[in-house]
Amino acid sequence: MERTPLIAGNWKMHHGISATGKFLSELEMRISRDAGAKKALEGDFIEMAIFPPFTSLWRALEGKRYLPWLKVGAQNVHWAPEGAFTGEVSANMLREAGCDYVIIGHSERRQLFGETDEQVRRKLDAAVSAGLLAVLCVGETLQEREAGETMAVVERQLMKALVGLPPDEVGRSVCIAYEPVWAIGTGRNATPGEAQEVCQAIRRFVAERFGDEAAMVQRILYGGSVKTDNAAGLLSEPDVDGALVGGASLQADSFAQILAAAL
Ligand code: PGA
Repeated sequence: MERTPLIAGNWKMHHGISATGKFLSELEMRISRDAGAKKALEGDFIEMAIFPPFTSLWRALEGKRYLPWLKVGAQNVHWAPEGAFTGEVSANMLREAGCDYVIIGHSERRQLFGETDEQVRRKLDAAVSAGLLAVLCVGETLQEREAGETMAVVERQLMKALVGLPPDEVGRSVCIAYEPVWAIGTGRNATPGEAQEVCQAIRRFVAERFGDEAAMVQRILYGGSVKTDNAAGLLSEPDVDGALVGGASLQADSFAQILAAAL
């Protein structure tokens, strides 16, 4: 398999420093009891990443001392390298702090903080230039799905975000997360068939725009109410290369169970 599955935990605005420390100890215990998961993580056959709030990042990064395979990322980034942007953090700062990943264009940022396709593109360019791996989120609202616009919306978001990147960076430095907005935090996940249909179409889109090679290595995640009881079905689809997990990533036990379902 050319694509290493990624199980990513988007903590949103949850888990301060002490809760992060507790999560890491529980995760260490949980993984040490699961020989298969431990071996897969240590051998890079699968990746686990967590995305804590900014103030907890250093604590999560410290956890790499005893969980060396753990990847850590931020939930947002600014596009400028530095400057008078109160409240923002740059890609180089995240890289310097030790982050591997960054989430870009999550629907909560688009909907609640007015993030535009153009801002998403600039953030993505900055992240990739700084050497971060980007998890680029795309997905339609319920209204758009019911109007039959799912692929039009997803393709527009992808096109606008990826347009400036060299084709070989697309597959290598970007993970695409298909997250239907109606499935996020609602307990109503897409069915494995629905997730596969869109993820397959995304891979086809990447092939058409950036070439077969990019499409072959392109990791595509599904996100939206992924839980311990639906993860195996979703992750067994051929074009679903992992999961972006919100609520169920906050407890080490359920997050580790989702990882186990991917193996
Ligand atoms: P959820 O969130 O798993 O809680 O639905 C997913 C996400 O927002 O990435």
